[in-house]
Amino acid sequence: MEQGVTLHKILIVDDIEDIRKQLKWGLGKEYAVLLAADGTEALALFKRHQPLVVTLDLGLPPDEEGTDEGFRCLKEMLHIAPATKIVVITGNDGRANALKAVQMGAYDYYPKPVNLDELKVIISRAFHLQMIEAENRRLQHTVVDRTGENNGIIGQCPAMQQVFTTIRKVAQSDVSVMVSGESGTGKELVARAIHDMSLRKHAPFIAINCGAIPETLLESELFGHEKGSFTGAHVRVLGKVEYAHKGTLFLDEIGEIPGALQVKLLRFLQERSIQRVGGREDISVDVRIIAATNIDISKAMEEGRFREDLFYRIGVVNIELPPLRSRGEDMLLLANLFLRKFSGDFNKKVRGYSPEAEEYISAYSWPGNVRELENKVQRAVLMVSGQLIEPDDLGFASMPVNTPSLPEIMDLGTLKDARDALERDMILSAIRTQGGNIAKAADTLGVSRPTLYDLMKKHGI
Ligand SMILES: Nc1ncnc2c1ncn2[C@@H]1O[C@H](COP(=O)(O)OP(=O)(O)OP(=O)(O)O)[C@@H](O)[C@H]1O
Ligand SMILES: [Mg+2]
Repeated sequence: MEQGVTLHKILIVDDIEDIRKQLKWGLGKEYAVLLAADGTEALALFKRHQPLVVTLDLGLPPDEEGTDEGFRCLKEMLHIAPATKIVVITGNDGRANALKAVQMGAYDYYPKPVNLDELKVIISRAFHLQMIEAENRRLQHTVVDRTGENNGIIGQCPAMQQVFTTIRKVAQSDVSVMVSGESGTGKELVARAIHDMSLRKHAPFIAINCGAIPETLLESELFGHEKGSFTGAHVRVLGKVEYAHKGTLFLDEIGEIPGALQVKLLRFLQERSIQRVGGREDISVDVRIIAATNIDISKAMEEGRFREDLFYRIGVVNIELPPLRSRGEDMLLLANLFLRKFSGDFNKKVRGYSPEAEEYISAYSWPGNVRELENKVQRAVLMVSGQLIEPDDLGFASMPVNTPSLPEIMDLGTLKDARDALERDMILSAIRTQGGNIAKAADTLGVSRPTLYDLMKKHGI
């Protein structure tokens, strides 16, 4: 976590010059040491530099034998920056004062005479705690979004911030929304967030995966059917549209809806009423439509596979989710969040990622996007034996990738080219290792089968 370049600041407050010198000498290599001989000087430096850690001698002038000035400083500093870790240095009969200081919010205490090595350990623990707390605050900040604003969608990159803005803008209205993005980018999450932030939140959110249901059944799944409308229709069954009355209907993989049904869907969107299969009655339904697609709808329209009029009905607002690989810091942010989640779930003490693992996470192309990251981290938390997750815990090194050597990568040109090459290599080796079984290969790569097929097509495999 140490940055190496900028040293963390520590403020040493002591009225005895020798002690100040000794500590400066002992700590100067690791930290940027600030020195103060009395309370006034200490507070001035404290306000200006905001050190993360302070060692504070309680016996400060004007009354070196008393503790008033020391306690005054302690109180003032914690008032200014409550997260500061203050180590109180106490004199001979220091115990009572030490306890009082800790009760007031001091991080720890240390009795004089100072043993540099011991004090160093306390200080380094204090800094370490500072780092952890800072990281927690950062996560908390995003986790607030989890339950509040963004309903569990994590993202700090500009593109995701833009997505959040759009969600907030459209949630309260009834306009239809089309969410597009590669597999695993969080389309369903976005749809649910919109619903949860809408006035319909107490009514049902009904999802139907148009790509997963055979064409013959899809119509009845959507609109329901009357008893006896076809062989096997023994009872009247309501469709998803009716179930979503007053709520939100999520049409997943809308690009997969066959042509004939596209017409029926369009009619429903225009009239806001349906007829069950085999029925005559018009039943009016009040639903808000959110649709998702991971195919390029404009291309599907050009090729005549998707009706333009339907697209314009549904895609009043378009939300495009960026692929994970283009979300910058979000990759590590999400990786850390999932790490925390799964180490909690599995009750494992994992501290974080090794620098190499972080590099892999940032450089990998994530064809399965957030879902793939989530799966890989879950696996890693299960597999890891030490405190740090290494690349092979994430399944990176264990795949027999012919990692191109650096000169080869340089030859490839752009970062994107290098990523593509790596992606292709990984796919090939996964297929090879799984003996040509695509489903299994998709599994090891953490992507869905359709995604793998798409990727194979993209790479001409
Ligand atoms: N920004 C995010 N923050 C936190 N979790 C996320 C985020 N995006 C996606 N996820 C998680 O990743 C997984 C996949 O998300 P989701 O199912 O919404 O993706 P999708 O785009 O609908 O995928 P598919 O196209 O495969 O259906 C879920 O477990 C979801 O909770
Ligand atoms: Mg989905």
